[in-house]
Amino acid sequence: MAERRSIWVLNGPNLNLLGEREPGIYGGDSLADIEVRCRETADKAGFDMVFRQTNHEGELVGWIQEARADAAGVAINAGAYTHTSVAVHDALRLLDVPIVEVHLSNVFAREEFRHKSFISAAATGVVCGFGPMSYVLAIDALAARVEL
Ligand code: DQA
Repeated sequence: MAERRSIWVLNGPNLNLLGEREPGIYGGDSLADIEVRCRETADKAGFDMVFRQTNHEGELVGWIQEARADAAGVAINAGAYTHTSVAVHDALRLLDVPIVEVHLSNVFAREEFRHKSFISAAATGVVCGFGPMSYVLAIDALAARVEL
C-alpha cells in the first residue's frame, strides 16, 4: 500500500488553554478534543496528521519550514501571531502546498486589531467563525485540494 501523505495542523500561542480560555468566545473544547476531530477527519480523507501547538513564534516558523519536506497541506491557526507576524507570513510563502488559515472565532466580528491578518495573503483560503468545526472544514478543504 502506498505511504499516506500528511496534513499538518499548526497552532500558535494560547491555544493550549482552549477549554479554559474565554469559553464564551472559543467554546468548551480543549485542543486535545480538537486534535481528535482533526485526526478522524484526516484519516477518513486518507491522510496522516501532524498536529502541534507552540507559544513561541520562532518554533512556529521552524515547523512551517519543516513542513516543506513533508506536508501535503497545512492548516494553521497562528493565534495572535496572525495579526503581528511577518516572520510567519514569510515562512508560509516558502511552502508550495495548499495552506488554510483557521480561526475558531469570527475575527472580523471582533476587535479591529483582529481584522488584519499576515497569514491570509500567504494562504490558499481562510476558515473562521465555526469553532472546532473550522478545523474540520479546513482539513476537508485541504484534502479536496490535494487530490486535484
Ligand atoms: C484565534 C483568533 C485570534 O485573534 C486570537 O488571537 C487567538 C485565536 C481564533 O482561533 O479565533 O488566539 O486565532
